[in-house]
Amino acid sequence: MAETIKDLISGNEEWVQNTLKTDPHFFDELSKGQSPQFLWIGCSDSRVPATQITNAAPGSIFVQRNIANMVVHTDSNLLSVVHYAVKVLKVKHIIVCGHYGCGGVKAAMGNGDYGFLNNWLMHIKDVYRLHEEELNGIADESQRFDRFVELNVMEQVHDLAKISFIQEEWAEGEFPYLHGWVYSLKDGLIRDQKVSINSNEGLRGVYQFEK
Ligand code: CO
Repeated sequence: MAETIKDLISGNEEWVQNTLKTDPHFFDELSKGQSPQFLWIGCSDSRVPATQITNAAPGSIFVQRNIANMVVHTDSNLLSVVHYAVKVLKVKHIIVCGHYGCGGVKAAMGNGDYGFLNNWLMHIKDVYRLHEEELNGIADESQRFDRFVELNVMEQVHDLAKISFIQEEWAEGEFPYLHGWVYSLKDGLIRDQKVSINSNEGLRGVYQFEK
């Protein structure tokens, strides 16, 4: 594991050498431009790197990561990434990928005071409140934690569907499809939460924008 800044720089040099060994034109091709088919909204957690866990090459996935893979409608960083992804790159799929054992979700479940971070965790706490009945009904804490991670992912997928310029894309065509995934740190596998949304029909009326 990389421990120092030097490790990262030498790691980079090693990666360039290995990459050129397998494909001498790798950088010539990639430097021409990107046309990824996917936007990934994931957790900042160092153990869940989008391209590595999906075995996808550089150029495949446009990425936005934050604590607990949240879609917050006042987050201009996230909105800019999503806007560019759907309007310019025309990605076909947007994946919200959470992960079991997520520190942000765990913190939001409890009553600990995390200072400035409390404001971000508030959005996750709101998800708890929406699903309080189900979650409080799960006696086992680790099972409740796992379920909260899944529910949080599903809420973020729906929060994506609420974005007006995503609905705008759906009015014009098929894409993007929205997906919810949960990654397990314990076995490295992704659990598809089996949603594939490409219309605003499943949303409460108040969230549906006129076409
Ligand atoms: Co996390």
